[in-house]
Amino acid sequence: MIRVLFVCLGNICRSPLAEAIFDHKLKISGLNGHFKSDSAGTSDFHIGELPDERTIQCAIKYEIPINHRGRQVNRTDFRDFDYIIAMDDNNLRNLNNLKVRFGYPKKEIHLMRDFVPGSNGLPVPDPYYGGQDGFEEIYKILDEAIDHFLTNVRERHQIYV
Ligand code: 4NP
Repeated sequence: MIRVLFVCLGNICRSPLAEAIFDHKLKISGLNGHFKSDSAGTSDFHIGELPDERTIQCAIKYEIPINHRGRQVNRTDFRDFDYIIAMDDNNLRNLNNLKVRFGYPKKEIHLMRDFVPGSNGLPVPDPYYGGQDGFEEIYKILDEAIDHFLTNVRERHQIYV
């Protein structure tokens, strides 16, 4: 079982949507038995909360089940997840500091769009202070990036069904 954790700041917009898109793709391609996913935030701003209403609207539009409660990244995440994927540089920096503090200095943290050829270093932009169109944008970015991530991981772990 390959364990994947998507991480953003608040864990109510980008990372729960990433998790939902990922799970949906796994399900429709019959791969759900090979992966376990979750999402978390670097902040404690929205612990226990449902995803943002705009995230939910976006998921409904694309018919993707979404069911998550906000939580903050913790020490055991660095032990338990094979892939920890940050949405932007700020999340990446925070995770790289946390991993040292939590005793996992060698843990590799990935940036979501680094899986997309030609998009190295680019963020999944924070949509929180914008409108619904920002959620449309992150949906498209995540949909593409997760396809590339899945292809990459399936090749690396030799997962064919
Ligand atoms: P997320 O978006 O990191 O994609 O969940 C945000 C959610 C909440 C806040 C910022 C970004 N906030 O400042 O509360």
